[in-house]
Amino acid sequence: MTEQERIVQLRQELHHHNHAYYVLNAPTITDQEFDERLRELADLEKRHPELADPNSPTQRVGSDLSNDFPTVAHRRPMLSLANTYNRQEVADFFARVSDGLGGEPFEICCELKFDGLSISLHYEHGALVRAVTRGDGVQGDDVTPNVRTIRSIPLHLAPGTWPDEFEIRGEVLMPWSSFERLNREREQREEPLFANPRNAASGTLKSKTTAVVAQRQLDAYLYYLLTDDNAADAGHYELLQQARGWGFKVSREMRKCSTLDEVFQFIDHWDEARRTLPVATDGIVLKVNSLRQQRALGMTAKSPRWAIAYKFQAEQQSTILREVTFQVGRTGVVTPVANMDPVQLSGTIVRRATLHNADFMQQLDLHTGDHVLVEKGGEIIPKIVGIDSAYSGQPRGPRVAFATHCPECGTPLVRAEGEAAHYCPNDAHCPPQIKGRIEHFVSRRAMGIDSLGPETIDEYYRTGLIHGIADLYDLTADQLNGRYGTRERSAQRTIAGIQASRQVPFERVLYALGIRFVGETAARTLARHFGSIDALAAAQLDDLLRVDGIGVTTAESVKSWLADADNAMLIERLRAYGLQMHISHEAEASRSNRLEGKTVVISGVFERHSRDEYKRLIELHGGTNSGSISRKTSFVLAGANMGPAKLEKAGKLGVDILSETDFLALIGEQ
Ligand code: IVH
Repeated sequence: MTEQERIVQLRQELHHHNHAYYVLNAPTITDQEFDERLRELADLEKRHPELADPNSPTQRVGSDLSNDFPTVAHRRPMLSLANTYNRQEVADFFARVSDGLGGEPFEICCELKFDGLSISLHYEHGALVRAVTRGDGVQGDDVTPNVRTIRSIPLHLAPGTWPDEFEIRGEVLMPWSSFERLNREREQREEPLFANPRNAASGTLKSKTTAVVAQRQLDAYLYYLLTDDNAADAGHYELLQQARGWGFKVSREMRKCSTLDEVFQFIDHWDEARRTLPVATDGIVLKVNSLRQQRALGMTAKSPRWAIAYKFQAEQQSTILREVTFQVGRTGVVTPVANMDPVQLSGTIVRRATLHNADFMQQLDLHTGDHVLVEKGGEIIPKIVGIDSAYSGQPRGPRVAFATHCPECGTPLVRAEGEAAHYCPNDAHCPPQIKGRIEHFVSRRAMGIDSLGPETIDEYYRTGLIHGIADLYDLTADQLNGRYGTRERSAQRTIAGIQASRQVPFERVLYALGIRFVGETAARTLARHFGSIDALAAAQLDDLLRVDGIGVTTAESVKSWLADADNAMLIERLRAYGLQMHISHEAEASRSNRLEGKTVVISGVFERHSRDEYKRLIELHGGTNSGSISRKTSFVLAGANMGPAKLEKAGKLGVDILSETDFLALIGEQ
């Protein structure tokens, strides 16, 4: 067999195994065997660039190439469905259809309403050629390279009677399991969490890097095969069964119903049973099955008359309120939290739920012992939505009042004019605020002292080892060694991380200080404009307001923070420890964006610069440092003695390895 033939053979075989694994859930070879074949194919393709194919199974892992999404018009508009929320509205739909068809018998196909984002797929001669998001319904983004990484979407169809050219629509989803894993990882990296799988799927599909999409493990169900307008009288249900045979993932949870009763049975069943599904659903879709009848019923401007969505109620439970406690955040904002009898809600046991703020509590007129309604909607944190009226008229416990003093430090709370939130003004001495500030200070995007997590900080703070940010720089390895479960090596690593942070550029130091309203962008703007902390401290309010992008709130916050004596002392201590309090002009001059969007892992021993210096160079040129090799890694900067495990992992994932010289050439420093 020639190498060319082997490529064709491997591609066919791997497409088949992908389908068996991701669509049928019935793999016939082990993951390892699959990986071996995939690697063999990748090697052969590298040797035969002339045989490149965007639909090759090797393209499923994505690349670091940046995607721009061209806008394309939909051949037929992507309509949405009218929503209904109760049985009466479903019955009305049923009656409207019956009337519209002049009393002719009809069938309704009931399906799950998947809660993701809709996608339109185009196939030509059995191959995927284009994938477009819904956009505004008239035109959407061409996200084909990203969609190619979704394993359950066939790149080549199984032999069958598919039309030469056709469009099929469906929903791209992030399964609960991938969603939870992704959020766990994001939590560790201190990145903002996705509120629900739909947002996560949508953010992922719009990612500029296909490798990111590949890693996030999206899934797709197809539910609408578009046919010629004058197609014979086929049935929607039957067409989808056929499409399943071509290789598409089509849900088996569909039912053709002839009576309203059957429709309600389907709704009632799935309202409960949907909790066991691997993906999020938010309702049931009802479609007239016959295409001929669909055409007869036609469309309104916004949606078809032959289909409707029935939306499930957000899951709600009733339980007893035992106590309201108050939680103080990093910025001092105080949130009321309901502590309740445990209750099962959307698969988890819930004991606490947010009450938002004082206004909300007052509106509810909450009493201890009340039966409250808890809801877990799109958000991660459950919330109280009301009082369960089934128990009204019963004797009630005492009324719940909002806290007047900070539960952590006892300071009277304040509420700014026009703001909903109460907060504790004692930022200098209130423990959660201090700990929160230290956590923020060491976080990856601030000083990047990554060996200090929230628990360690809490421990060091509680036992009096540190009282604030500046104390970190007084710590010694001896102090940490053996205490708080810290071993010698990790004690040394922590101290090294703290010491290395003295080289962190001024703009990040400014961000790390945690001044209210000064995020990364404002910090960078201010640092570049004023050049040093002294110049910033000397600036008048007007000077601050003249800076592009700095508004009144930020300017006032900066001014009052710097005017505070405790903060001035903190700055002096940090300056004495050697932290960067002004822009390094030499660094500024060599800044570039050559590594923009690149994630780099450093490994081994170097000759020309130290590791920390390389880390700084990576950031200086717009790149991001990362500790471990993954599919997201753009390349490894390798010195002598790179660890064998890392070397193997890089090889396995096809991550490039750059030498010191290659790297310096890349950033233009030779
Ligand atoms: S059919 C013309 N079927 O819900 C009919 N839609 O507002 C086109 N959806 O935009 C849609 N599951 O993103 C259909 N089984 C299903 C669905 C479904 C989810 C989404 C779709 C659409 C929205 C309706």
